[in-house]
Amino acid sequence: MNPLVSNSMPLLGVNIDHVATLRNARGGDFPEPVRLAQLAVDGGADIITFHLREDRRHIRDADVQRIKAEIAVPLNFESAVTEEMLGIIALVRPQNVCLVPERRQEITTEGGLDVAGQLARVQDACTRLAAVGCRVSLFIEASRMQIEAAAQAGAPCVELHTGAYANAFDAGDTAKVESERTRIQDGLALARSLGLQTNAGHGLTLASTPWIAAQPSVQELHIGHALVGHALAVGMERSVRDFKAVIARAWPKQVPAPSP
Ligand code: PXP
Repeated sequence: MNPLVSNSMPLLGVNIDHVATLRNARGGDFPEPVRLAQLAVDGGADIITFHLREDRRHIRDADVQRIKAEIAVPLNFESAVTEEMLGIIALVRPQNVCLVPERRQEITTEGGLDVAGQLARVQDACTRLAAVGCRVSLFIEASRMQIEAAAQAGAPCVELHTGAYANAFDAGDTAKVESERTRIQDGLALARSLGLQTNAGHGLTLASTPWIAAQPSVQELHIGHALVGHALAVGMERSVRDFKAVIARAWPKQVPAPSP
C-alpha cells in the first residue's frame, strides 16, 4: 500500500468552542456546549474538539467535565503547553490532545506551535501526555523545520494549519491558494515520510474543505467556526417556525370585548 494514502475517509472533529462563545455572551447556561456536542455526534461527528484556553473565554472547566462524562466519541482537547493545562489533562484523560500556541490577545489560534524553537519543552509535554494515555498531535505550520521538529519531539501526529489556504480561498486569491496548496501537500508528504499521522484544520469552510478532504493522507479534519455558523444558518427557519408555533398556540384567539 502507498504509505502516503490513508484507506479511510478523513474523520471529522467538530470544534464546539463557539457554542460556548454564544452562551457566554449572555452569561447564562444556554446554548449548552454538551448538548450541541451530542447533536454533532448525532449528525455524524467522529470526534468532539474543544480548546480550554487559559482565559476560559469560551469553553470552561465544567464544560470539559460534562463533555468527558456525557459524550461517547473520542475527544480532542486543544491545549497550550502549560503546567496548568498538562495537570488538567492528566485528570481528564481525553483520548487526543492537540498542543497549540496561545496568546491572550489573539482572536483565534494564530499560526502554528513553534516546536523547533522549544523542542525540549514540547518533547517533555509529549512524553507526559503519552504516559497518561493521550495521543498527542502538534498543531504546526506546514514547514520542513516544524514537521521535522514534531517528529523529533516524539509526537505521533501533526495537525497542519490550513488557515492561510482557507483565508486565501475566501478572498479569491488564486495565486496564494495555489502556493498554500503546494506547501500543504509538501508538508503532508514530509510528515508521512517521517511516520507521522497527518491531520489538518483551521479556517475551513464548506467551500474550502473539499480540496483538503481530497488529499489522500489527511486522516482527521478539525472544523469549528464555519461549521457552527452553518448550523445557525441551516437551523434558522426551523427555529423561527418553532417560536411562531409557540406564539400561535398561546394566543387566546378571542380578544375579550372592552368593558363599557
Ligand atoms: N484546529 C486547531 C488546532 C484550532 O486551534 C482550531 C480553532 O480552535 C481549529 C482547528 C478550528 O478552527 P476553525 O474554528 O477556524 O474551524
